[in-house]
Amino acid sequence: MKFYIETYGCQMNIYDSEIICSILFKSGFIKTSNLKKADIILLNTCSVREKPEKKIFNRFLKINKIKIFKNKKLKLGIVGCLATHYKNNLFDKLKFLDLIVGPDSYNKIPEMIKNLKTKKKEIDVRLANQERYTKIIPIPNGGRSAFISIMRGCDNMCTFCIVPYTRGREKSRNPNSILKECKLLYKKGYKEIILLGQNVDAYFWKNMKFFQLLELIAKTVPLMRVRFLTSYPSNITKNLLKVVKKYSNICKHFHLPLQSGSTRILSLMRRKYTVEEFLLIIKMIKKIIPDCSISSDIMTGFCTETQEDHRETIRIMNIIKFNFSFLFKYSSRQGTYAYRKLKDNVPNSLKISRLNEIIRLQKSHSFYRLKQNIGKIQEVLIEGISKKDENYYYGRNSKNDIIVFTKNKSKIGSYKKVKILNSTFTTLIGEIIP
Ligand code: 5AD
Ligand code: SF4
Repeated sequence: MKFYIETYGCQMNIYDSEIICSILFKSGFIKTSNLKKADIILLNTCSVREKPEKKIFNRFLKINKIKIFKNKKLKLGIVGCLATHYKNNLFDKLKFLDLIVGPDSYNKIPEMIKNLKTKKKEIDVRLANQERYTKIIPIPNGGRSAFISIMRGCDNMCTFCIVPYTRGREKSRNPNSILKECKLLYKKGYKEIILLGQNVDAYFWKNMKFFQLLELIAKTVPLMRVRFLTSYPSNITKNLLKVVKKYSNICKHFHLPLQSGSTRILSLMRRKYTVEEFLLIIKMIKKIIPDCSISSDIMTGFCTETQEDHRETIRIMNIIKFNFSFLFKYSSRQGTYAYRKLKDNVPNSLKISRLNEIIRLQKSHSFYRLKQNIGKIQEVLIEGISKKDENYYYGRNSKNDIIVFTKNKSKIGSYKKVKILNSTFTTLIGEIIP
C-alpha cells in the first residue's frame, strides 16, 4: 500500500511525521509524494490557532474530491492535534474521513489501516502517559539538520493554549534512546540536531535535568551543532547558560516566548513570570552569553487586552529587540480556560491592526540585530545552494541567522569561517575566509 503524508504546524509535528513514516515503512507501506497514487492519505494536523485549522479543513475538502471522483477505495486519515481536539466529531464534520489518530497512538496506524478493510471507520485518540516512541527511529526528510524530540506534552496549562489537551501531560524520554538517535544521525551525515519539546526545560529523567542532558549530547556528538527549543522563560537557569556557553557546538540561541508585554495579561494567561522577571532573565542570559540571539512568540488581542496593555508589549519589544519573533493574533480555542472563563472581547480588526504594528516593529528589530553581525567572522554551516542565485551558498551561524555567500569548492555540510559584509532585512551577506 502506498501512503502520502502532509504535515502542518510546529517542528514537533514534522518530527512526528518522520515517526509515522518509520512506523509505516516497518509494516511494508511505501511512501509516495504523488497524492493521486496514494492508497492512504494522512494529514498530520495542528489546532493551536484557528487559521491553520481552517486551512487544514479546506485542504481536506479538496483532497476529498480524489476519493469522490477518482478513487473510491482511497482511505483518508487525520492524525495529530486536530484528532485529539475534535475526536469523534471529526467524522461528523468530514464525511469522507476514515481514520482519526491522536499523537500518542501512531504505533497503531498500520493495524488501524488494515482494520479499515472490514471496518468503516477507525479512531484512537487516547493520550497515553507512557508513549515516547523510544523504539522508533524517525526518518528525517533529507537536509543537514534533524529534529529529536526529548519530551512530549506540556503541563503548564497557559489559559490560551490547547496543547496540554491535544498532546497530554509532559513525558520525558530516556536519555539513552536520545543519545542513540544522536549518534545514528551523526553516522548518517547529519550536521545539526534540534532538540524539541513544548517546554525543554521541563525535561526530567530520574536525576537528569535538561542542562545535564544537553551537556551529555554536546559531548557525545562534538562535531554536530546542537539547538533546542522551546524554553519556558522562567525555567532558564544559570546551569543551563553555563553549559550553552561552555560547548562551542551548542548554538547560542534561545527561543523564549514572551506572549505579552503586560504583566496583567501574563497573569490572565497564567504565565509564570512578570514582565520585570522576563527582563531580568534576558539580562542574565546576555550577561553570561553576550553574543547570543533571542527569539520569541508574542500574540495580540488576548482577552481584555487594552490599548495600554498593547503599548506595554511595544515598550518591552523596544527594550529587548528580539532577533526574530513569531507573531500571532489570539484565537479562542474550545476547551481552554480562556475559552470557558475569559472574554474574547478584542474586536478582530483591532487584533489585526495591533498585530500589524508589532510585525512592523519586529522587522525593524530583526534588521537592527542582523546589522550587529557586520564585520564579524562567524562559523557557518553550509546548508545548500541559494534558491535565488546558484552562484551562492546559504547557511546559518550559531545564532540561527541566515547567511548567503559566494560559492566556492567548500562542500555543502561543512563548517566554514565567513566574514559578514552586509545585511538585508532578512539575510546576512558574507564571504568565505580562505
Ligand atoms: N491563539 C493565538 N496564538 C496562540 N499560540 C498558542 N495558542 C494560541 C492561541 N489560542 C501561540 C503562542 C505559542 C505559539 C506556539 O503559538 O504564542 O507560543
Ligand atoms: Fe501551550 Fe503554555 Fe505549554 Fe507552551 S508552555 S505548549 S503555550 S501550555
